[in-house]
Amino acid sequence: MEVIIKNDATTLSAYAARLIRELIRRKPDATLGLATGGTPLLLYRELIRLHREEGLDFSFVSTFNLDEYLGLAPDHPASYHQYMRENFFNHVNVPPANIHIPSGQIQGDEIPEYCRRYEEEIQRAGGIDLQILGIGSDGHIGFNEPSSALTSRTRIKTLSPRTRQDNAPFFAGPGEVPHHVITMGVGTIMEAHHIVLLAFGEKKARAVAETVEGPISALCPSTILQMHPNATLLIDEPAAGKLQRSEYYRWVFDHKPGWQRVL
Ligand code: PGA
Repeated sequence: MEVIIKNDATTLSAYAARLIRELIRRKPDATLGLATGGTPLLLYRELIRLHREEGLDFSFVSTFNLDEYLGLAPDHPASYHQYMRENFFNHVNVPPANIHIPSGQIQGDEIPEYCRRYEEEIQRAGGIDLQILGIGSDGHIGFNEPSSALTSRTRIKTLSPRTRQDNAPFFAGPGEVPHHVITMGVGTIMEAHHIVLLAFGEKKARAVAETVEGPISALCPSTILQMHPNATLLIDEPAAGKLQRSEYYRWVFDHKPGWQRVL
């Protein structure tokens, strides 16, 4: 696990964008795993800039989003379909046929088969080369809430009261946040070749400290990233505030061999 601590979210988002740019240069038909929420907004803005100003070409790229609220139509203002169009897809050239976001409109007993097919499509695309993640204040990744099986696959989950509260600002009122979602599983996420987790703000400090320094536990699903061979954690100062060994992580980063540097 590589822990990179920098002052601000803009620098870290630019770093994540450069990792994606290098991947696409190396592998034009790369498969990206994408996240939503407040955290990756600056990353999407930077990728759009790289597309416009440097010609970063997404025309062979495929994307798979982590999750979607069940019960929301794709044009609902708080749906992740809408979020992705507004914040990324409307501004770059990913072919619509290559975009995959779990449907929020699958119902009842259709859900398991739908989730199985989502997994199959990831496999058909060759697996995820680089997965962007945020982290919940409760340590969720995707919408894998505390007590999620650490080997879980894409499936329906029930949101915790805390996540519903965290996400209420995106809805007309707290009661409007759906209770159920479809999310890639922890096991699905762990199969990505490279995982890049972004965490900004003091509200994430506890979850970040557990992820990096706590025991691996389903009660904080992000802790499983300690088992991933290629995970990069991009953390701003407030989110790094509860790490015991932050000086050590900075020291390691400062002594990184030149040939490994993207930042
Ligand atoms: P946020 O959500 O980016 O809106 O903080 C992160 C998450 O829930 O994974």
